[in-house]
Amino acid sequence: MARKKKGDKTSMGKIAIYPGSFDPLTYGHIDIVERALEIFDKVILAIAHDAEKKSLFTVEERVEMARSIFKDNPNVIVDSFKGLLVNYVEKTNAKVLLRGLRATSDFEYEFHMASMNRSLSSHLDTLFMMTSKDYFFVSSRTIKQVAKLGGSVEGLVPDLVARRLKEKFKLPVARRRMIGWDE
Ligand code: PNS
Repeated sequence: MARKKKGDKTSMGKIAIYPGSFDPLTYGHIDIVERALEIFDKVILAIAHDAEKKSLFTVEERVEMARSIFKDNPNVIVDSFKGLLVNYVEKTNAKVLLRGLRATSDFEYEFHMASMNRSLSSHLDTLFMMTSKDYFFVSSRTIKQVAKLGGSVEGLVPDLVARRLKEKFKLPVARRRMIGWDE
């Protein structure tokens, strides 16, 4: 049997790829990663360069934040990809894509995406994990909306993300004081 070379991703055990925009990463995403690590040896958080949506954070900013958040967990690899997800997955030898499912409203979009990916790569399966009840209402989109309007996102995103959101949505000093951003 051929020996596995150093750096060969097949030597990493059971790998799941968790793709997404992660714009920004929320505790909902982190919860999925942590639970997935009960099943898989490694989770690759694959941050999309060219997701359909216009992102608030650049891909570099998203990667840097995610790496910092998972810095103490060597089983989480943060990476980014351009173009088709199946082409990225091909390079890793992973067979499973991981996606969180919040509610029935997520289902149609996820079903289409999983079916398209399976049609593009017949050996690729998508595993859905139900979002924990504490986070089923949390999405990157609503987090950005709340943060933009000065609402609190505490407990829904890591502190680092909350700080970066504040920096992105710099509000005038008077408004910041009014909503308690500056004590
Ligand atoms: O967090 P998101 O925005 O729901 O993630 C969507 C993402 C990035 C996983 C999806 O848009 C994607 O895989 N984009 C890469 C392009 C691709 O492969 N498209 C074909 C699958 S429909």
